[in-house]
Amino acid sequence: MSTITAAITAVGSYVPDFVLSNAVLEQMVDTNDEWITTRTGIKERRLLKEPGKGTSYLAIKAAQNLIEKNNIDPLTIDLIIMATATPDMPVASTGVYVASQIGAVNAFAFDLSAACSSFLYGMSTASAYIQSGRYKKVLLIGADKMSSIIDYTDRATCIIFGDGGGAVLFEPNTEGLGLQDEFLRSDGIGREYLKIDAGGSILPASKDTVENGQHFVFQDGKTVFKYAVSGMADVSEKIMQRNNLTHDDINWLVAHQANRRIIDATAQRMGLDESKVLINIQRYGNTTSATLPLLLSDYESQLKKGDNLIFAAFGGGFTWGAIYLKWAYNKQ
Ligand code: UT7
Repeated sequence: MSTITAAITAVGSYVPDFVLSNAVLEQMVDTNDEWITTRTGIKERRLLKEPGKGTSYLAIKAAQNLIEKNNIDPLTIDLIIMATATPDMPVASTGVYVASQIGAVNAFAFDLSAACSSFLYGMSTASAYIQSGRYKKVLLIGADKMSSIIDYTDRATCIIFGDGGGAVLFEPNTEGLGLQDEFLRSDGIGREYLKIDAGGSILPASKDTVENGQHFVFQDGKTVFKYAVSGMADVSEKIMQRNNLTHDDINWLVAHQANRRIIDATAQRMGLDESKVLINIQRYGNTTSATLPLLLSDYESQLKKGDNLIFAAFGGGFTWGAIYLKWAYNKQ
């Protein structure tokens, strides 16, 4: 009996039309294009501006893009995992609504929340369901409307984040392609450095919390940066070592797009040439749960069957990790 592995067999994505450029941010806060570009690598980000539309809108669009491009019958989807840090509502799962809206009425769905590592953890979860043999089609969506939790008067955070969504389909594979290994970590020490103080069970919403701006993201950027650089590089090196991979064996680094300098440091520790590093941070900024699938979508035509991909992410919590995956198809 051959072993079942979990392979990515389809990719889709969506970003809103509205572009927030560095030039426009210069008019909003005390910043400049040169600072943002050299410190982060970001040139512009997309924002979902239409009132009344939340993360589910981004997720539905990304899922529909995947379904249409690949002629998937939504009725055959068994499970939808919605990776997000910005659910439509605190209660009532965003994934459940998305499943209904895309016609995946035979699927069950749930949300998975691990800040910027949500999609990476989702890859692990989706693969485990496939490898168990219980489900044949698992749709993993990563989407975030970061603009809903960003203070556009705070230059420390508003220059970084953007909105977007991406989706991948996991299916069983008997050729040994798909997820090979994972090394996932978390550490509660990070909770104080990247968080939203209010709106949860510790500090429910009140007039004061709104007036104090406690519903916006707070980030101690310097500290998060320090942990992110060592965390992402450590796990990437670790997954290479325990799978006996050298830099020559790796075709692509698919790293969370939070800061170009963090990605470069990780690639450097892995000994990877710049040409193997997927990058789109300049166009979207940090879209939290959407960065990894947006990279796959943008680079899909260059990924070849059998290619070795290392995924790496670091996020609030702290949460971080790396995944080694063999790509399963050539895009026609
Ligand atoms: O995705 C989840 C995980 N998140 C991350 O991985 C993000 C990690 N952190 C970062 O990417 C970086 O720390 C930031 C991009 C957030 C900040 O970059 P930095 O190089 O760490 O800057 P800094 O906070 O050390 O600030 C350096 C200087 C300060 O001025 P002084 O004290 O040197 O006079 C800041 O006040 O830059 C100033 N500054 C800015 N200047 C222009 C901070 N933000 C800005 C800004 N424009 N937007």
